[in-house]
Amino acid sequence: MSAEQYLWESIVFPDRFKAVEDGQMPNGYDAILSNRELKDLVAYLSSLGSSPNFRNVIGLADAPQTRQATDGLTLKLTNIENGRQLFTETFQCQSCHGWGEHFAGQDLAAPSLNGVGLMGRDWLTTSIRDPSKQIAKKYRSVQCLTEDGDTHVGRLLSQDDARIELLSQDASGKYHIRKLKRDELVEIRDGSEVLIRDTSPMPAWTSQQMSDSQLDDIVSFLLTLRD
Ligand code: HEC
Repeated sequence: MSAEQYLWESIVFPDRFKAVEDGQMPNGYDAILSNRELKDLVAYLSSLGSSPNFRNVIGLADAPQTRQATDGLTLKLTNIENGRQLFTETFQCQSCHGWGEHFAGQDLAAPSLNGVGLMGRDWLTTSIRDPSKQIAKKYRSVQCLTEDGDTHVGRLLSQDDARIELLSQDASGKYHIRKLKRDELVEIRDGSEVLIRDTSPMPAWTSQQMSDSQLDDIVSFLLTLRD
C-alpha cells in the first residue's frame, strides 16, 4: 500500500488502522469532505514527511461517501507490524513470494501477494494452514521421470511436442530452469510423461509451527496488500 493510500484510508476509514486500543479519530470525514478535498488533504499530509507522489494521490479511489462502506474491516497497527515481521523474518514467506514493489520475475516461484488482501480473512487463513486445499493452477508441481531413473519436480513453465520446461529448486534452494526432452522421459501416467501433484509446493503451517495469533497477525498484514 502506498503512503498516500494509507493516509487516505486513515481518514476515510479511521477504524482500519488503530495506533491504540480504541481509535480516537471520529468516523465520517468522507461525508463532510469532498473527494477533491480528501485528495488535497492526503497530498498535504504526505508533504509533511517527504514529497508526495502525486500519481498515487490522483490514483486514489473516490470515497464511498457513506457510512456503510467500512466492510467491517478493522485492523490494528500493532498486529499489522507484527504480521509483517513474522512474514519477512520468522517464517521467511518472502523467500518464495514477492510483495510490495512490483518487479519482473517476482511471481516466478510463487504468486506475488500484491492485491491478495482483497481475498479476505478466511481465504487467506486457509491458504496458509492448508495450501493444498486450493492450489493456484499455474503453480502446481509436476513430476517427470527420465529413462535414466532421475525424477524431476517443479513448476511446469511450458511444454510442446518435443520438450518440457520445469522450474525447479536445487538442494540449496536455488531455482533453475530444466529443459527435458520428451523422448527421454518415461510415460508416467496414461499417455503422458507429466504427473501433476496434488500437494501444493507451499509448505502447510500447522498450529504447532505457527500459532493462531501469529497466523491472525500475518493475515492482518496480508489484508493491507490491496494493490
Ligand atoms: C516454498 C515456497 C513458499 C513459501 C516459503 C511460502 N509460500 Fe505461499 N505459496 C507458494 C506457492 C507455490 C503458492 C501457489 C500454490 C498454491 O496456491 O498453493 C503459494 C500460495 C500462497 C497464497 C495464495 C495466493 C494465491 O494467489 O493463490 C498465500 C496467501 C500464501 N501463499 C501465503 C504465504 C505465507 C503467509 C507464507 C509464509 C508463512 C508463505 N506463503 C510461504 C509458495 C510458498
